[in-house]
Amino acid sequence: MKDATNRHEIAAALRGMGLGPGDKVVLHSSLSSLGWVDGGADAVVDAFLDVLGPSGLLMVPTFNYAIEGVFDRNAPTLTGKITEAVLARPEAVRSCCPTHSVTAIGRQAPDFCADHHLREPLGIDSPIDRVAQAGGYVVLLGVTHTSNSTIHVGEAHAKLPYIRVPFSDNRPDTFAVRLWDGTVTTVHYREFPGCSRAFNAIEGPLRLGDYIRDFRISRACMLLMKGLDVINTVVEMAARRPDWLLCTDPHCWTCSRRRDVLRREGRLADE
Ligand SMILES: CC(C)(COP(=O)(O)OP(=O)(O)OC[C@H]1O[C@@H](n2cnc3c(N)ncnc32)[C@H](O)[C@@H]1OP(=O)(O)O)[C@@H](O)C(=O)NCCC(=O)NCCS
Ligand SMILES: [Zn+2]
Repeated sequence: MKDATNRHEIAAALRGMGLGPGDKVVLHSSLSSLGWVDGGADAVVDAFLDVLGPSGLLMVPTFNYAIEGVFDRNAPTLTGKITEAVLARPEAVRSCCPTHSVTAIGRQAPDFCADHHLREPLGIDSPIDRVAQAGGYVVLLGVTHTSNSTIHVGEAHAKLPYIRVPFSDNRPDTFAVRLWDGTVTTVHYREFPGCSRAFNAIEGPLRLGDYIRDFRISRACMLLMKGLDVINTVVEMAARRPDWLLCTDPHCWTCSRRRDVLRREGRLADE
């Protein structure tokens, strides 16, 4: 295996996956999974932009989960170097969400990112849902479904009652945000993306449905799937077994409480 790759090789591999101009992608990534990349994270971003073109959309999570003080456009992203490189681009459009902001590049980026502060972070009509509903893809580059935020969107579509349980005991539900026009306002959330440790459970159903395409770029394994297939699979599986995306660690605060919600509603099959 080669020890290094570059923008052009990555772009060629993306084209080989069937991606092309006008496609919309939500990318979850690990830069180091590729081995050495000449040009670093910027080369990866350039490769995606080369392939998707200005009529396409590259969206990345620029989450910070729970920031101290007032959230604004300059809040850091905690979801990897490639997301930092996207956020640093002058043409990047960031959505305004104090916990699960996303950043996108492409002609339609402002439409996809608009009004995030008026939606639940990963709820219905959030930016990541909009990409799925528009026929867009999820790309997992060197990471697994534990990073696949579209699964959280699927939990909202499945109307799983447990999404009202916060991630942890002390996690706030109300945040101050500075909108991009400078206005400071408050947002209050009622749905919370929870623990994702069990999200690889979706791999089997997605593969049974033939919804995943596997690729390799340099050293990295890469999965391509339609966002809508992810959402529909979550909805179908949740109807059969509502706790299937909750981890089984008895010490996991949120999954334990989420199971209690299902138990109270009589939705746990074995009880
Ligand atoms: C956490 C996570 C980002 C860590 O992956 P990673 O590859 O170690 O980290 P990054 O993608 O930030 O890349 C930085 C690493 O790339 C490596 N690197 C630096 N330059 C490089 C280059 N030119 N070529 C290749 N690798 C390079 C370095 O090891 C660097 O690590 P360091 O900062 O410790 O030195 C990744 O595992 C992950 O979870 N990604 C998905 C995040 C996400 O989408 N979350 C949303 C749902 S919760
Ligand atoms: Zn858990």
